[in-house]
Amino acid sequence: MTRFFNEESSVETVNERMGDEVNPRLKALMTSLVAHLRAFAKDVNLTQDEWDFAIDFLTKTGQISSVERQEVILLSDVLGLSMLVDAMNNRRPVGATENTVLGPFHVEGAPIRKMGDTISIDGKGESCEYVGRVCDLQGNPVAGARIDVWSDNADGYYDVQQPQVQPKWNNRGIFVTEADGKYNFLGIKPVSYPIPNDGPVGKMLAALGRHPYRPAHMHYLVTAPAFQKLITHTFVGDDRYITSDAVFGVKDTLVAPFERVNNGKTVWRSPFDFILVPDEDE
Ligand code: BEZ
Ligand code: FE
Repeated sequence: MTRFFNEESSVETVNERMGDEVNPRLKALMTSLVAHLRAFAKDVNLTQDEWDFAIDFLTKTGQISSVERQEVILLSDVLGLSMLVDAMNNRRPVGATENTVLGPFHVEGAPIRKMGDTISIDGKGESCEYVGRVCDLQGNPVAGARIDVWSDNADGYYDVQQPQVQPKWNNRGIFVTEADGKYNFLGIKPVSYPIPNDGPVGKMLAALGRHPYRPAHMHYLVTAPAFQKLITHTFVGDDRYITSDAVFGVKDTLVAPFERVNNGKTVWRSPFDFILVPDEDE
């Protein structure tokens, strides 16, 4: 047992202070965190000025956060931590649709729409027909799957970012599959947009010579009884930011075809199947 703090034995000194009745998982998490924080400070030879700057940065990150603005998640996103935690917790068999970040713009309670309906209420942008199936790993259709979809508008903003400008539920909707597992709806071909960059995280990206853009994508939250929840996007492959997503959300398997069509209905067509994995806990 070390009595007083010193540089050499800082990890032991701090971790020994923990009580005996501490939740074992909390103990494991905090013991490791203390060790890694020390390793970081030692590795970079952290100066007092640098640590003061970091405290100020973290303080501002908390202060700008609110119900509408989650700067702490944004920090985790741009550091690649959100995608790492997601990857570690959603390892799926080959063939299953992969997860990616949820992002801050999902809204509960979007209208349930009929297959074939449009989610684009403001009528702006290049129209696109989205089609495909929800199925299991064997290719069997999944009935009763709820496909909750949302995207930005043609100006690169979600409806919730422009409540005075865009109609409510613009580019959002929920579609429920029938026995054939098929879905189709109309929307727009999404456009790339910057993540909120007027706060400390935006400043950090600028200081690191990083742009704040996400490549164009459609968001999906697909749920079905007895299947694992799927949180994912489909991406527009020829987007200029496809290999430099500010939040590292792109995966090869999520780049979807966007085919130019001449069907008298839409300018684009994007086919994509969602392959779900059974939920072991059910
Ligand atoms: C989004 O795609 O909506 C998003 C994801 C992470 C951070 C910011 C926005
Ligand atoms: Fe998005």
